[in-house]
Amino acid sequence: MDLSRQIYVVLTVLLVILLGRCQSGQTADNVLDNEGVNSEYAEGRDLAAKYCEACHAKGGGRMRVAPPLQAVRNHYLETFPDEEDFIYAMVDFVRHPTREKSVMPGAVEKFGLMSALSYSEDKIEAIAKYMYHVDESDGEGKGKGKRQHKQKHKDQQPSEEIVAFAMQTKKALGQQLMQAIEREGAAGAVDFCHIEAIPITDSMSEHLGVSVRRVSDKPRNPDNAATNEEHKILKRMHRQMERHGEAFAYSDKELGRHYIPITTNAMCLQCHGKPDEHINTQTFDVINARYPNDLAIGYDVDQIRGMFVVEE
Ligand code: HEC
Ligand code: HEC
Repeated sequence: MDLSRQIYVVLTVLLVILLGRCQSGQTADNVLDNEGVNSEYAEGRDLAAKYCEACHAKGGGRMRVAPPLQAVRNHYLETFPDEEDFIYAMVDFVRHPTREKSVMPGAVEKFGLMSALSYSEDKIEAIAKYMYHVDESDGEGKGKGKRQHKQKHKDQQPSEEIVAFAMQTKKALGQQLMQAIEREGAAGAVDFCHIEAIPITDSMSEHLGVSVRRVSDKPRNPDNAATNEEHKILKRMHRQMERHGEAFAYSDKELGRHYIPITTNAMCLQCHGKPDEHINTQTFDVINARYPNDLAIGYDVDQIRGMFVVEE
């Protein structure tokens, strides 16, 4: 670490301590105000506001020094759906952050690796528990525009079962891809990014009585091209990603259709990134031979690659 960066970190930590002091009273009031938050998680919420939110500020771009806590929560929930794993991973990361442990390589690249914080394990556990259980949009009171906006999103959310199904599909696909790349290299793994190739989609679709497709505004396979209607929804997800660092799932309950965003991570770039930078020549050749009209390149991490369309 060079000197200016060291000074920067020390200043940030001082700022955190100061802000923590100023905010603690206000935060306690918020918790009392709000009937929505289970008192079991109030302590964690309080601690998060005090110890984490000075860097992991909610919302707005401006002087952001870390991703909003809600974005961290989403990434963690996706990677560690089980509560115990979630809490263990978070305590471990906060006390000893390393690049290897990161599930948000885009954030590490953008902000630099988080510095270790030596708060007690109990405190971080309480924070992790609160983060696991309480959606930030649940934790806010009523009346303000932003809150109504979030509430609106909630009304349009697909059922937990549908989202869980999409997440599982995504995870299965990711795992399959990662294993195939390890085995055969990216060029050999090209055939594995096929949604039909995942047994889980069949069994689960049958179980839930739904069909699942994957569409994109920049499709590789022309069969996966978004319709006009779907283009509008994807546009909205791109906007949300730019504004909030996350995109929301969306349900059209009347039509019985559910749309769940698919975002890129570092692994995807081997086949969807920039040809000279991320995709090696061999892989690029295989892709071009198979998909002469490919549009699905040039992506970076944490961008909307497409979405699942689940139809009842
Ligand atoms: C001094 C600023 C700062 C404070 C305070 C801070 N963080 Fe972070 N945190 C960051 C930055 C910067 C990143 C993004 C880079 C990274 O992923 O390491 C980050 C990322 C994370 C990640 C994602 C790690 C990953 O996989 O990339 C978690 C989890 C996290 N923070 C938890 C917490 C918790 C919990 C607290 C409160 C106890 C906290 N942070 C307080 C700066 C901070
Ligand atoms: C080994 C190469 C490879 C990797 C890695 C890869 N993909 Fe793909 N991806 C493809 C290929 C090939 C297709 C076309 C599949 C088809 O014909 O249906 C595709 C298609 C898609 C589609 C459907 C829309 C379209 O463009 O046809 C989405 C969405 C998608 N990929 C997302 C991802 C995400 C997200 C990741 C990272 C988690 C990822 N891919 C990683 C090769 C890859």
